[in-house]
Amino acid sequence: MDPQLNRWRADTPAAAAGLVHLNNAGASLMPRPVQDAIADHLKREAMHGGYEAADDAADAIAAAYVDVARVVGAEARNIAVVENATVAVSLALSAFDFVAGDVILTTRNDYISNQLMYLSLAKRRGVEIVRAADLPEGGVDPESVREILGKRRVALVALTWVPTNSGLVQPAEEVGRIAEEAGVPYLVDACQAVGQMPIDVARLRCDFLAATARKFLRGPRGVGFLYVSDRALRDGRAPLYVDMRGADWLEADEYRLADSARRFENWEFAYALLLGMGAGARYALDDVGLDEACRRARALAARAREKLADVDGIRVLDRGPELCAIVTAELAGIDAGDAVRELREWGINTSATRRDWAVLDMDDKRARTAVRISPHYFNTEREVDTAVAALAAMMDGRR
Ligand SMILES: Cc1ncc(COP(=O)(O)O)c(C=O)c1O
Repeated sequence: MDPQLNRWRADTPAAAAGLVHLNNAGASLMPRPVQDAIADHLKREAMHGGYEAADDAADAIAAAYVDVARVVGAEARNIAVVENATVAVSLALSAFDFVAGDVILTTRNDYISNQLMYLSLAKRRGVEIVRAADLPEGGVDPESVREILGKRRVALVALTWVPTNSGLVQPAEEVGRIAEEAGVPYLVDACQAVGQMPIDVARLRCDFLAATARKFLRGPRGVGFLYVSDRALRDGRAPLYVDMRGADWLEADEYRLADSARRFENWEFAYALLLGMGAGARYALDDVGLDEACRRARALAARAREKLADVDGIRVLDRGPELCAIVTAELAGIDAGDAVRELREWGINTSATRRDWAVLDMDDKRARTAVRISPHYFNTEREVDTAVAALAAMMDGRR
């Protein structure tokens, strides 16, 4: 085995022990440095006290912000550490004083929870949700975004870069250019992109970017971050409900916002998880490299698609001009949830996606459920082949 791959796998005890983990879009396996960073801090908390441990780890905490920021090409001052990507999106949305008739311009492939938040804003604030048209080959048509921006009162452009339920990569940079030309703020959900591919917020030209640690970044569950641009900070964007970490209370009726993205944070948060996310960021950048992670993960996914397409009764659902490390496939006559449970019994982790998690896309594809296979750079060709062979055997068993 390639020595580099060997090292990554040695750092990933479950993979080294034989678990075929192809659910990196759900939650990846944490590499050893991430596990250690978390366990060490929990030990410090137990031995010295929670607040005292945070004081003692002040330098490591500051370094974690710097490293997380590096993953998206930003500075530490632009990073707010939050619980997860959904919270990050909700905080960003709360920085807008939407009024009736404002348009949120989004796509047909934005994440379920984001769509639910837009629907809630429509119900409670009279916001209008407009979804740009897709290209015939899949993925949003940037020209449709441009056209809607020219015609409607758009308050925010919001795009999920990589959806949860397919291998599509949306043209996030192109949409960012168009939003900037129109002078409209831009929110990117990069939950599945972070750790899977190189990211540069300057090229995205986004005001906000939401992410989580546990997926392709290989950090722990229960922590994520929100990138907030200098432009958004200068414009005074802040969450609706600011807490004592995000602002100083100056006088009875007066407060001052923190001048950094910290204004989006809560006073209480999980320092052990933040340190784990920082270690995940360092590992991704310095031990692997995001170009290499992206190249390898995509090559493994392409291999899975190619082999699945040859299996009778399996329909690969991924469409679009650019595809990533998420592979989705419908199995004729088999519910994806059942297939995932069966694979799990064989030591293969995948996940299932359902129509109600992506109603627009799944209806376009006329699919009810799909198995999601999401390899990462530490997976092997053989693991991908094992998963495909297991699915082929399942299909055979149906005949
Ligand atoms: C594209 C996308 N956005 C957002 C989320 C939500 O992330 P979290 O569960 O960390 O809030 C997910 C989770 O699967 C996702 O796939």
